[in-house]
Amino acid sequence: MSVYSEIYKSRLSQIDALKSKGELSALRIASQIESGSFSDECIQQNRSLKEMVLSRKLVGFPFDGVLVPEKEISMDVGINVHRVQVAGLVKKYLPQGTKRIVELGSGFGVNLLWLWHLGGDPAMKYCGFEYDEYGNRCLDALAGLVDKDAFSSCRFDYNEPDFSMLLDDVPTAVITVHSIEQIKFVDVNLINKIKSIPGFKRCIHIEPVGFQMDEGRDNDNLINYHNEAWSTLRNGYNRNLVNILTGMQKGGELQINRMQKHIGGMHVGNSSSLVVWEI
Ligand SMILES: C[S@@+](CC[C@H](N)C(=O)[O-])C[C@H]1O[C@@H](n2cnc3c(N)ncnc32)[C@H](O)[C@@H]1O
Repeated sequence: MSVYSEIYKSRLSQIDALKSKGELSALRIASQIESGSFSDECIQQNRSLKEMVLSRKLVGFPFDGVLVPEKEISMDVGINVHRVQVAGLVKKYLPQGTKRIVELGSGFGVNLLWLWHLGGDPAMKYCGFEYDEYGNRCLDALAGLVDKDAFSSCRFDYNEPDFSMLLDDVPTAVITVHSIEQIKFVDVNLINKIKSIPGFKRCIHIEPVGFQMDEGRDNDNLINYHNEAWSTLRNGYNRNLVNILTGMQKGGELQINRMQKHIGGMHVGNSSSLVVWEI
């Protein structure tokens, strides 16, 4: 059981309940579930959510590289703003002609569903690769309402990356959204495995790694809400993705096309930053 199992198990029950009430839209269901997890009642019961609300009010939240003060965009709305922004970024950086998109650590599949609904190519294959079984079952349950041939789910572990099930040599993009954050140190093997996916074209990371873009910065002395590495330091999140990618770029093994700090996210202490690379 992963730490996310309870969350995705409960989401699966909510999906089933909403479907049995007649909800027919996967996006309405996904959005209701996520907004519900940021309801006033949930916030009152959860210390970490209370801290996020406070930081959004006192400091603001990251959006398109700047801090936006929260006036009316509360967290239940903000999560949908985040999803739209992620889908928009993925669309922007997806190479033309992509026929398969693979999200690693795809959770309950919400990023792929938003991408599809916001105009992602209906002929593309949307593959959710997730560690947790219930996360994959959620995506399967939601995909049944969209286009079950377009979506698929698969168990995936960053610590033992295996893409052997991706047999077709079709133009492929890989995305990660706050999932590499969960792996304190990634290694070159993961990136090489991604590069070896048949038809691989480009990888788009939306991860809280902006602090890694400043060489020589001492992040351990900056544990406060003004620091984008606050969650990283508190939760043991990823420390080296940018380092691994820039090292491989220096060795001529890949090309980084874009690095943009603090492009979005719900919480200034866990800002999303963007890294796009290809071979
Ligand atoms: C913060 S959630 C993000 C999920 C999804 N990308 C999203 O944006 O909603 C982190 C995800 O990473 C997954 N994860 C954690 N450890 C993993 C591992 N070793 N391999 C693959 N996924 C993992 C979790 O199960 C969870 O779904």
